[in-house]
Amino acid sequence: MNPIIQELQTEAKSRLASIRSPQDLESFRIAYLGKKGKLRDLMEQLKNVPDDQRRDFGRQVNEFKQFLEESIKSLKIETSSSAASKDSFDETLPGILPATGRIHPINQMIQEICRIFERLGFETVDGPEIETEFHNFTALNIPLDHPSRDSFDTFYTSEGELLRSQTSTVQIRVMQDRKPPLRIIAPGRVYRPDAVDASHSFMFHQIEGLMVDDRVTFSDLKGVLQLFLRELFGKDAKVRFRPHFFPFTEPSVEVDIKWGKGWLEVLGAGTVDPNVFEAVGYDPKKVQGFAFGLGVERMVMLRHKIQDIRLFYENDLRFLEQF
Ligand code: DAH
Repeated sequence: MNPIIQELQTEAKSRLASIRSPQDLESFRIAYLGKKGKLRDLMEQLKNVPDDQRRDFGRQVNEFKQFLEESIKSLKIETSSSAASKDSFDETLPGILPATGRIHPINQMIQEICRIFERLGFETVDGPEIETEFHNFTALNIPLDHPSRDSFDTFYTSEGELLRSQTSTVQIRVMQDRKPPLRIIAPGRVYRPDAVDASHSFMFHQIEGLMVDDRVTFSDLKGVLQLFLRELFGKDAKVRFRPHFFPFTEPSVEVDIKWGKGWLEVLGAGTVDPNVFEAVGYDPKKVQGFAFGLGVERMVMLRHKIQDIRLFYENDLRFLEQF
């Protein structure tokens, strides 16, 4: 190899070895391949080389040029990737937390309500969503001609069963299975063929409660429900009991809480009708009880001032992440 080229190449190699940054690399490039660079100087010398050696010299200059270009190219990749990771990695920053799920606002409310009743000795129980007419209507003293039995108000299966339209079904199932005393609370889904709008859905959630013993009076009902509503809405919540009718309780009430200037209905309740006890094989002369039912969506909507029930079912994270 020509001694001048040889020397330049040795020098270039040692300079390449000390390159640490894109800036180093760029000044190296300018020094060798730039307009006034060392390669250019070599080219200039071509005309001073004797004729018989010129071809060989030219070839060696070209090889040197290729060597420089390839070295720069490979170093470019290395320096840029190590510079990027050096700049963007700050080991003092907190780590990236994996996204975690959370409990749906409906289930949060169910849990909160069940915890309150569990502290009063109620047991949380479950029941099927596909039910019989007996459990959803007949045993609950709902007459055959009652409008809620109509297929406009209840979903029936082709096998003659139905999707429960109320969690009161669980009262019946528990009483059929067990002997009093009983204190149960039953959260779950219910279904009604309602057209969906801001306040209606074909599926929603209810919580049913039932207490049965040899002596359970209407004042027990009032005491338990008042205590419950004050736990849920604050100790200053004003509660009102208003006469109403339900087929499965006698007497029946609707329970309101004071809301701004007016009253809002939050619960249905009453003393268990003797016909219900008879339907499950209890002796109405020996047991007494009270029952109540509430809509869970309504409670969450009241508490958080939510205007549209459909938000609960759309799985839009912008909504769900607020709870
Ligand atoms: N099942 C009733 C409904 O869906 C709610 C209800 C009212 C349940 C009074 C009860 C009760 O247990 O005593 O509207």
